[in-house]
Amino acid sequence: MGIISRIFQKAQKGGNAPQEAPRLEVVLAAPGPAAGLWTIGGGKGGVGKSLIASNMGVLLSKSGHRVLLVDADLGASNLHTFLGMDGGRLSLSSFLNNKVAEIADLVSKTSIPNLDLISGARDSLDIADAGSDKIEKLKAALGTLDYDYILMDVGPGTASNMLDLFLSGDEGILVTTPEPTSIENTYRFIKCLILRRMRNVINSHGDLELKGLLKRIFENPEWSLKVKTVADIIRHLKELDSERGETLRRLMGDTSISVVVNFVRRQEDEALGAAVSRACQDYFGVDIRAAGYIASEDCVAESIRLRRPLVNEYPSSRAAASIEACLNGVIGPRARRATKAGA
Ligand SMILES: Nc1ncnc2c1ncn2[C@@H]1O[C@H](COP(=O)(O)OP(=O)(O)OP(=O)(O)O)[C@@H](O)[C@H]1O
Ligand SMILES: [Mg+2]
Repeated sequence: MGIISRIFQKAQKGGNAPQEAPRLEVVLAAPGPAAGLWTIGGGKGGVGKSLIASNMGVLLSKSGHRVLLVDADLGASNLHTFLGMDGGRLSLSSFLNNKVAEIADLVSKTSIPNLDLISGARDSLDIADAGSDKIEKLKAALGTLDYDYILMDVGPGTASNMLDLFLSGDEGILVTTPEPTSIENTYRFIKCLILRRMRNVINSHGDLELKGLLKRIFENPEWSLKVKTVADIIRHLKELDSERGETLRRLMGDTSISVVVNFVRRQEDEALGAAVSRACQDYFGVDIRAAGYIASEDCVAESIRLRRPLVNEYPSSRAAASIEACLNGVIGPRARRATKAGA
């Protein structure tokens, strides 16, 4: 049986997965432990990335955090529309193309207190075609800005730049829908992310010995058949060189990714995120957390038509409540991990 069928079977067995987080927790969440750069992406277009980025940004800013939204979906950017803005005069590609030296000059205030935007509205550059040095430059520049949270809408696709942009965050939020095609794309996206991450880790570490050992693992006919997950690679590497195996394990472990299932209409689809999470653990040996699901409702399209954030316009809707629960589903584990690391 293929992995996609298994994910659906697991979701059915898992039954109803209630959204665990109470709504008001966001208000109480301290910015420290969960703060940083969050990237919102996924393999497929039209799954709700911009809806989630904009509304999570609004929720975080309403709870007193200083938030910057960055529209990096160059070529198809529309985050400004979700916030009722026209996109402004300058946008991200001006900075990436060296036409604007200071990233701070691209920041526009939104009508919501504590919430700013770097728009992609007037972009002339497709980020998929930008060099990897541009992504490094963007990440470094964002790091100089004074915000509790920076939420970056990455746009769809598995081009290596899109993967690097997604991986540049402290937290990656992967958005999918319950359709088998979308789940299939998400699975492929995760697989590409893991391989890309491993490649980046090895390259940035600059350890030629490590590269050589990995080559030996992949070229050994006996071992290459057994290598299915990241855990397999690390196990074989530890057999060859325990210290380097441990280094790769530690570096790969730094990736923090959550999955959100949007457009949920049926109860059995509520457990799909958890099923994707289990499948990733079984097949890749990596920890992808299920942050929750978002109900499909007509008021979502209506809020976009009005160009006002859903969580402000329809705060009592199921869709707004589920976005808040997903936000807690991302913040909760981040804060717990940070507390544990600091303990
Ligand atoms: N939970 C939902 N319920 C109903 N409609 C939704 C929901 N989420 C998203 N939509 C609809 O889907 C459309 C696409 O959403 P959005 O623009 O956020 O997706 P996207 O992943 O950012 O797309 P793109 O890849 O094109 O940037 C929206 O215009 C909205 O009408
Ligand atoms: Mg979008």
